[in-house]
Amino acid sequence: MRIERPRYTERFGAVRINEVQKVLELDSGRAKEMAPYEDIAVKKVEEDAIKNFEEKMLIVIPTKDEKLKLLEGVISGIPHECPILVISNSQRKRIDRFRMEKDTLNQYCHFTRRQAYLIHQKDPVLARALGESGYDYILDKDGLVRDGKAEGMIAAIFIAMVLKKDYIGFIDADNFSPGAVWEYVKCYASGFYMARSPYAMVRIVWRYKPKISEGIYFRKWGRVSEVTNRCMNSLISVTTGFETDIIKTSNAGEHAMSLKLAGLLSYASRFAVEPQELISIFEGFGGVLPMACKSAAKHGVEVFQIETRSPHIHEDRGSEHLQDMLLPGLATIYHSPLCEKETKEKVLTELLQQKAIGSGEEPPVPWISPPPKNIDIQKFTKAIGEHLESSSALEDK
Ligand code: GDD
Ligand code: MG
Repeated sequence: MRIERPRYTERFGAVRINEVQKVLELDSGRAKEMAPYEDIAVKKVEEDAIKNFEEKMLIVIPTKDEKLKLLEGVISGIPHECPILVISNSQRKRIDRFRMEKDTLNQYCHFTRRQAYLIHQKDPVLARALGESGYDYILDKDGLVRDGKAEGMIAAIFIAMVLKKDYIGFIDADNFSPGAVWEYVKCYASGFYMARSPYAMVRIVWRYKPKISEGIYFRKWGRVSEVTNRCMNSLISVTTGFETDIIKTSNAGEHAMSLKLAGLLSYASRFAVEPQELISIFEGFGGVLPMACKSAAKHGVEVFQIETRSPHIHEDRGSEHLQDMLLPGLATIYHSPLCEKETKEKVLTELLQQKAIGSGEEPPVPWISPPPKNIDIQKFTKAIGEHLESSSALEDK
């Protein structure tokens, strides 16, 4: 893969946020010696280097009642070297969709000889393991993991720790294009290859997110992303005193991190999870509040934003759903101790304009789960170990 080097980096305390880097070539050819200066502006990441990161990266697919053909398509796009975890919150009662997912995955893994795990978010063994290891923040009153994509993601971080992976990458299950999925993983691996710090995150920028109505329109920015990016950039600008538009990925559902970094962040519920990750990085390492971890402060925390060639085409869930995403996302910015008056006013104006709050109202305080780093991973492993093995979709190893 050939990819732009970061041309500009915004520094915020120990955080380095790289300007968007574009993918130039999906396949950059055989490995060969570079001509002098060839890689000054553009980095060639060799296939082998990418593969080295892929085998250390768990790819997590959160899914809830998605069409099986979409889920299978997404899995087929993930490079063979990456282990896969499907964390499902699909219904089991009227129609057992989870069972159907299991059958699909078993068949797929049988023929492709690949490793994938499938776990239900409401699995009592998972909940017990979380409870016993001291991380009960995402459990509901019945003692099971709460609904929500973020809750599934948090559980997946612990499973990646059990599997001793170094990286974790997330990809939604409702993606129509296996080729785009493949590209996301290549971008994750290339980002980690370029990182100078073991505390790194890669967030995907879509080249286009087309709207299909009568024809096809290659829209670039979603409405929610536009507003959230504006407010996130305002928070950085006011804190540093220099106006910036560096953040283009506040809501990036497709993103990956080193497990070292994942262990240090706090996670908001449901669809506020992605903006909160950035807020958590700024709070923990921006230098305004005390540093959250000495080692990460020393190495720095690096954020890559990589723009894919493939357009992002996924299920359209209508405009009401957009409101569901905007309010909690902006609430994570509004309620951060870093958020000053100017950005708070900006958030309120946006929310009023989108009719997400009434006049005089404030966004609700987000539900935030603390960093996973303090979990007793031995206890978690002991409680889930065998069960995880039996959740493997490759039955005849
Ligand atoms: N495990 C699990 N549990 N998965 C869930 C749940 C849940 O409770 N709810 C939804 N999912 C899965 C969906 O099946 C899908 O694969 C993925 O999470 C994203 O959900 P969507 O409903 O498709 O969200 P979206 O497309 O509106 O938003 C996505 O893109 C945004 C950026 O544009 C999400 O990834 C957002 O988090 C992201 O900010
Ligand atoms: Mg979607």
